This record gives sequence, C-alpha cells and structure tokens, in this order.
Amino acid sequence: MTDTEIHDVRGRRVWDSRGRPTVEVEVHLSAGAVGRAIAPAGASTGSGEAMDLRDGGEAFGGYDVRRAVNAVNSEIDSELFGADADDQDAIDAALIALDGTPNKSKLGGNAMVATSMAVAHAAAAAEGVPLWRRLGGIRAHTLPLPEIQIFGGGAHAGRRVDVQDFMVIAVGAADYEEALDWTARVYIAAGEKMASAGKLQGVADEGGFWPVFDTNEAALDMLVRAIEAAGLIPGDQVAISLDIAASEFGSGGQYRLGLEERALDSDGLTDMLTGWLERYPIVSVEDPLGEDDEAGLIAFTAAAGERVQVIGDDYLVTNADRVRTAIEKRACNAVLVKPNQAGTLTEARAAFDAAMAAGWGAVVSARSGETEDVTIVHLAVGWGAYQLKVGSFARSERMAKWNEGLRIAEAIGKNASLPPAGAFPWG
Ligand code: PGA
Ligand code: ZN
Repeated sequence: MTDTEIHDVRGRRVWDSRGRPTVEVEVHLSAGAVGRAIAPAGASTGSGEAMDLRDGGEAFGGYDVRRAVNAVNSEIDSELFGADADDQDAIDAALIALDGTPNKSKLGGNAMVATSMAVAHAAAAAEGVPLWRRLGGIRAHTLPLPEIQIFGGGAHAGRRVDVQDFMVIAVGAADYEEALDWTARVYIAAGEKMASAGKLQGVADEGGFWPVFDTNEAALDMLVRAIEAAGLIPGDQVAISLDIAASEFGSGGQYRLGLEERALDSDGLTDMLTGWLERYPIVSVEDPLGEDDEAGLIAFTAAAGERVQVIGDDYLVTNADRVRTAIEKRACNAVLVKPNQAGTLTEARAAFDAAMAAGWGAVVSARSGETEDVTIVHLAVGWGAYQLKVGSFARSERMAKWNEGLRIAEAIGKNASLPPAGAFPWG
C-alpha cells in the first residue's frame, strides 16, 4: 500500500457566489492526507462544455446538485477506491471511462472536476507541498499577469450592456503585487466616477460595477478616464481587455446589440470591434464573434491578431482538439483555460499545453459562479501560465484568488516574476 492510495471520496453540497448549490469533494488518502476542491459554474457557457449535472425541477430553479453529489459518494467513490492519487492521468481516465458520455452528462462535469482537483490537492498534501509546487517543481517562479474586470455586462448584468467584461491588464506592472495595486486604484477610481455621475448601482456577478451606460463605447470612455484618474497611463501602464462573449447576442453570423438596438452581421461586428482597437488602448479581445462563426473569428484574427490577443472561450471550451484545429485555421491566438469546461485536470492541461506548444497565449480562468476555492491560482503558477482571469477586484470569491497569488509570490521569494513582456502580443 502506498501513502497516496485513495481511501475515501466524499461529496458534499455547498453554495456558490450566486447562492446556488455546487459540489465540493474531499479526497482522503491511506496515510491521512486530504485534498478538497469545489466546482465553479458558468452563466455564459459554450455549447461544447462539459455539462454540469443539475437536478432540474422546482428547487433552486432546477440548479440543485444532489444527483451530482450522489454520483461522487457512490459511483466515483467505488471506482477510485484503492487508486493512486499520485497518477492524475489514470484517475482522470478512470473518471472519463466511468462517465462514458461525450459531454460528461452522466456523472456531471461538476462532480468530475471537483473530484479531479481534490485528487490533485490530496497528492500534493501527501508530498507535503502546496499544489502549485507539486505541479511546477522547485523551478516554478512565474506569477500570472492578472486580467481584472472593472465593469461587468452581458449575461452577468441582466444584459445591461452587450459586452460582457470590460477588464484591465496592468501591462506595465513590475510584479504581481504592483499589478494588483494598480488595478485596485483603477477599480476605486471607476467606482468614484460612477458615483459622481449618479450611476453607481452596485456590482454585477463577478464584482465589476453594474454598467449604467447608454452605449458600449461609453463604458470604454469611462474606463480610460478611470485609468487616468488613478494616475496611470492608459495603454503603457494599464491597458483594456474585453470579453465580447458574442455567442450571447448572436448566432449564424447575425448579431443584435440590444443596448443600441443595432443588428450587425459578422463583418459589421468585426468592423465595430476593429474600430474600437483604433480608438482605445485595447490589448486583448475574447470571443469577438460567436462560437459558431468560425469564418468571422478567422477574419477578425487576420485583421487584429498581429496587434492584440484574440482569446477563444466559448469557441474552444478548453478542448485540446479544438485548440489544435483553431491553430491550423488561425481562428484566434490564445485559449481561455477553464478546468470545468473540460471536466478533468488532465484534459484542461492538454488544452493549455496545445496552446503553449504553438506559441499561443493561455489564460487560466475562473467562472462567474465561484467560491472560496483557489485551485486555479495553483494551476496557473504550477503550469507556468502567463495570465489569470478571475473576475473583478471585489467580493471574496474573487479576492481569495488574487490573495492566494500574493501568498504564492511570497513563498517563491525574490525569484518570483511576471512573464517577460515578450511573452505577450503587446510586448
Ligand atoms: P461564465 O463566463 O463563467 O459565466 O460562463 C465567463 C466568460 O465568458 O469568460
Ligand atoms: Zn468568456
């Protein structure tokens, strides 16, 4: 018997940042080590994602997870009993085989990803090291550059504006700590500007300010002014990053901007966005066109991909095969890596590796429904990811992750650094 033999997999129903039930898993090993993780949940999901198993029916809008928790405590617990937590690939392969569906709908992507992450934590605990160190080894020293939301829109704010995330990236920051300091200043300045304009109405799902704007461009103008008001130089020190999440307001190459009551085809949306790239200090654009608009994504990347990072989220759904196809077709130049889109750590890692091998960007990301779980920060550092997206700079399900990065930076010590500027398309 090895120290890393799994003795018990326990599922538990806990609550997320939207007040919805979610799945927590605790993995106990033979020598006493324990690992724990909680599944996050999306709201603007890609159709190709691993499916969360939800109970349906009346309770909690159908979002309850008693069936997924049962799957952990029965089938998954039996299957993994006696397995070696040290072998993540074998654990994840066993979960995939036990589920047996293409979209993980039997056990649930929520049950599977929480189990997969809890196993990783248990194996790290058995080794007596944090997960980032277990994954990255003694040479791990790169902190991811934060991508942080200032205004939240789209599906996270009742579609008050069409664009889902208005974010900043502290491109000129010397280190992780400074990136957070600068972002905090921008966040506070944006809140003060909203308040003095009589437009402060609380925050959206990921902690960014609720967007009381007449146009999408008004939000961009306000963001530039907030960066300046924070005493920082737009573009040089703090740049703008957008998640358009276009699948939420269009399909079949036809888009509808609700706020401005404008209908656009694929070329029209591309022209609007490339126009923004001319006028605003934008360095990254996620899901500029819908997940089913591959021709549009290819055209946008041809037009803008030399200057800015073009991230595939709904289109790539953390799937290595899709990443490889997109690399061939030049349909974007970076992947968003959300472990629960894949359903296991092994599959998420494969998508990450496929992107990095091609010189693409790879942004490890949280979901709009989150908890105190900080696993993604450990994955980002352990895998050597260049960027991390967690939502805004408010509310503890977000701050837990930014703060974990500070602790990891301190543990790494004087060698801790952000990726070199040359690692980014804007470098
Ligand atoms: P979600 O969206 O977590 O609500 O799916 C986040 C994103 O689109 O990046
Ligand atoms: Zn997205």
